[in-house]
Amino acid sequence: MAVESPRLAGKRVLITGTGRGQGAAAQELFCRHGATVVGCDVVEGAAEEGAARLQEAGLAASGVTVDLADMDAARGWVAQGVETMGGLDVLYNNAGTSQFAPFADMTAEQWHFSIVHELDILFYVTSPAWAHLTDGGGSIINTASVAALLGSKMNGAAAHSAAKAGVLGLTKQLAVEGAKHNVRVNAISPGFVDTPVTSNVPPEAKRVITEMHPLGRVATGRDIADCALFLASDESSFITGVELFVDGGFSSV
Ligand SMILES: NC(=O)c1ccc[n+]([C@@H]2O[C@H](COP(=O)([O-])OP(=O)(O)OC[C@H]3O[C@@H](n4cnc5c(N)ncnc54)[C@H](O)[C@@H]3O)[C@@H](O)[C@H]2O)c1
Repeated sequence: MAVESPRLAGKRVLITGTGRGQGAAAQELFCRHGATVVGCDVVEGAAEEGAARLQEAGLAASGVTVDLADMDAARGWVAQGVETMGGLDVLYNNAGTSQFAPFADMTAEQWHFSIVHELDILFYVTSPAWAHLTDGGGSIINTASVAALLGSKMNGAAAHSAAKAGVLGLTKQLAVEGAKHNVRVNAISPGFVDTPVTSNVPPEAKRVITEMHPLGRVATGRDIADCALFLASDESSFITGVELFVDGGFSSV
């Protein structure tokens, strides 16, 4: 599992939420393509364990426990990561978690939790990373969702949708502000992804959701990581301000 290609050779990368799911898949894939990747996760020890497995395979991975909803802790993680790597080329804002409820039942606590844990954390991380990226150029990848544009009959996604729509707005604005510094800023919008957070979806609901994806399956973490790899690499050097749907056609129906 050592380095397989130089697509990201020399790239110094921060990825949030590497303890499991899409973030873990991306950390492994980016490292296998030559990047140095500092990860993090709020679950105690999860980012460290994932990175240790990659290190054993000879890959340049590390990870620490940090709650990005704590602005000072997020700032400290960015500073430490940049210092360790000697700079920053790519920031992948993957981590996020939300609370769902029909709007009639949604509490202010659920609303605020979702906005903080899916939108505010992007500010907490991207703000301290910005000066490092504008100093020489780089790529920011934000994780939005089809929920940013589409309502859901399946779950009460009001707060989640609002937060992810905010991620898209932030992406557009930073793409414009970053352009003169050669900082590209793009978003990935997954449909349903088979990761630990969706593992408790009942089989019948999963079957219905799968049918809503014209390609006839839901995504894997690797599907999303492959798109992020492209956006992190110089192969996407003329792409900024876009939302790439990685949803098997879900948003086209
Ligand atoms: N799974 C899906 O169907 C789906 C669909 C659309 C968008 N997304 C988005 O994709 C991203 C990744 O989701 P996933 O499917 O891998 O979920 P996941 O829950 O399996 O993994 C997310 C990881 O981020 C970490 N994390 C969450 N909040 C954090 C915080 N405050 N500080 C540090 N780490 C934190 C979690 O502990 C977890 O390890 C999220 O932004 C999510 O909203 C997921």
